[in-house]
Amino acid sequence: MLVNRCFRELCCSRPAIGLAVSCQRNVSYLPKAGPGGRSSFSGVVATVFGSTGFLGRYVLNRLGRGGNQIIVPYRGDEHDYRHLRLMGDLGQMMFFDYNLKDPESVAKLVKHSNCVINLIGRQYETRNFSFDDVHATGARVIAKAAREAGVKRLIHVSALNASEKSPSKFLQSKARGEVAVREEFPDATIMRPATCFGHEDHFLNYYAYLRKLPLGIPLIDGGMKTTKVPVYIADVAQAVVNAIREDDSIGQTFELVGPEEYYLFDVLDYTYRLMRRELPHYTMPRSIYNLIAWAMEQSIWSPRLTRDMLFREFLSDQITAGLPGLEDLGVEPSSLDTIAISVLRRHRHSFFWDESIDSDAPCRPTSSYVSN
Ligand SMILES: NC(=O)c1ccc[n+]([C@@H]2O[C@H](COP(=O)([O-])OP(=O)(O)OC[C@H]3O[C@@H](n4cnc5c(N)ncnc54)[C@H](OP(=O)(O)O)[C@@H]3O)[C@@H](O)[C@H]2O)c1
Repeated sequence: MLVNRCFRELCCSRPAIGLAVSCQRNVSYLPKAGPGGRSSFSGVVATVFGSTGFLGRYVLNRLGRGGNQIIVPYRGDEHDYRHLRLMGDLGQMMFFDYNLKDPESVAKLVKHSNCVINLIGRQYETRNFSFDDVHATGARVIAKAAREAGVKRLIHVSALNASEKSPSKFLQSKARGEVAVREEFPDATIMRPATCFGHEDHFLNYYAYLRKLPLGIPLIDGGMKTTKVPVYIADVAQAVVNAIREDDSIGQTFELVGPEEYYLFDVLDYTYRLMRRELPHYTMPRSIYNLIAWAMEQSIWSPRLTRDMLFREFLSDQITAGLPGLEDLGVEPSSLDTIAISVLRRHRHSFFWDESIDSDAPCRPTSSYVSN
């Protein structure tokens, strides 16, 4: 099959006669083959950068299910991606190592694809990669490589609240990344998800584990001045996959948010009720919390908390009026109330106590809380 020949070229990385042909083919989808499902071919060959992360596994599973062929770039070792092997049929997924700072290795990974998805992101800066390296320069390298290879669709995942005026360096770099992507690939689709929840999340699980802190969970202003619109990770993944075939999404920016807006405290309150535990919390002044975050930032391992992460944790989500969202990509957003139990069951006190979850009143949306 032609596509498999492209993959062989990628593996051997030597020029072949088919190369020139395949570069021209990139601009459109390839002919479909098979009845549909994981063993078929949908016509899409997608390179998914950042697929070893939280969102990546959901995107890959949906791509694999739809019979798309997937190129999975990774930068670690086999253990980083072996769980992803199951998501596509034999020969449907190809794994290649690369370095984001090496434009040639990026170009090699996109030259046989007709779709590129960029899910790369990092919560904190490292010695080797600043936020700008990952979110702005890296995004530009990928977008440029995609344009030069004649890729048809580029989907770039940024973050809600991204703004060059934000005090957060993370959000500034995300905004610069969006600009860089638009400059290099004006037809790109940009997705700005809110905080995502799901089985491997760093939101519900994070607060569930914070119960182990000796004094309880510190909250700035008691968590009552921060509002969040958390979104289910599978909905974000479905939106990314739907955008590939949705021509209306070309050149658009989407904000992917959940159906309800909550005070941060309400989310914690609900989380702990589901876990059948007391919510151990207390109010901590921002200045002291910042000092603690600074101290944790000095860790030589991955820091659990940085000042930037703290700022974003207590930053209220701002939705931009007029931008399309999940529904415009054919996804019905799932509410936190329906999904949270599946994430939190393992944190429950009396894990095997199987009382109906209906007994746990759902999270209160901001509006009803204010009106109460
Ligand atoms: N999860 C959320 O709540 C949320 C909310 C809003 C926006 N987003 C955005 O959505 C995207 C995916 O999020 P996620 O939760 O899946 O993030 P994640 O779990 O932290 O995964 C990030 C991915 O980026 C890769 N990566 C990070 N730094 C890299 C570098 N220097 N070079 C190459 N690859 C690098 C990681 O590769 P390794 O595995 O090799 O480290 C991993 O595959 C990110 O852009 C994130 O900012 C996420």
